[in-house]
Amino acid sequence: MNSTESPKRPMKNSKPSKQRLDQLLTSLGYASRSESKKLIAAGLVTVAGEIIKKIDFKAFHHDVTFQGEPLDTREEMLIMMNKPLDFVCSHDDDEGKLVYSLLPSRWQKRDPKISTIGRLDKETSGLLLLTDDGQLLHRLTSPKYHVPKLYEVTLDRPLNGNETDIFASGTLMLNSEKTPCLPAKLTIIDDTHVTLEITEGRYHQVRRMFAAVGNHVTTLHRSKIGNLTLGDLKLGEYRMVSQDELL
Ligand code: URA
Repeated sequence: MNSTESPKRPMKNSKPSKQRLDQLLTSLGYASRSESKKLIAAGLVTVAGEIIKKIDFKAFHHDVTFQGEPLDTREEMLIMMNKPLDFVCSHDDDEGKLVYSLLPSRWQKRDPKISTIGRLDKETSGLLLLTDDGQLLHRLTSPKYHVPKLYEVTLDRPLNGNETDIFASGTLMLNSEKTPCLPAKLTIIDDTHVTLEITEGRYHQVRRMFAAVGNHVTTLHRSKIGNLTLGDLKLGEYRMVSQDELL
């Protein structure tokens, strides 16, 4: 590898292999390549219990500690977050407070980088998935993938009474779209509070579905994706989940 290439993680399911200490620290977000060299030279890294100051020393990930702690996982991460209002699903600081800023700063510098699986609007709270697994991201954001997503909705105006049938019909057309929404399940709590289960992820879909039936969404919270619910996770908190919990 030449010095301009980034130190990627080994291939999935590949046998554990040794990696240079500076590459390990850099790919896991501990420090930039040049900072990693200084940290190793300063004696902050051990391999199998011994301080190693050689940056090009090769070691197994599981044998390495940094400042006395084992290194973060090198495996792909799948993270569930309870997204608060006002945070944006973007990597661009100009767009406001980023959901990534709720994660440890080290994770934000990992390579491959962590991205949200789909998006929640700035004004929507609730269950958001994030991953650094490119294949999983691709699979779960594909239009062919129809995992149910449950939203808790507060409406500006009382329901008309025909929304359940319209949403279930699979004929509802959204503004400037060419195909109708797939059937969606509306559950009425009272005349301004409902839950809506959809299996697609079109842009602002829930807000646009209610706009299409003459209403307006005032609060929106996603509480479930597939089998995953937020459980005790408070707004702004996150935890690792396994793919088995989701599917
Ligand atoms: N539908 C919306 O309108 N907004 C979201 O954030 C998610 C689904």
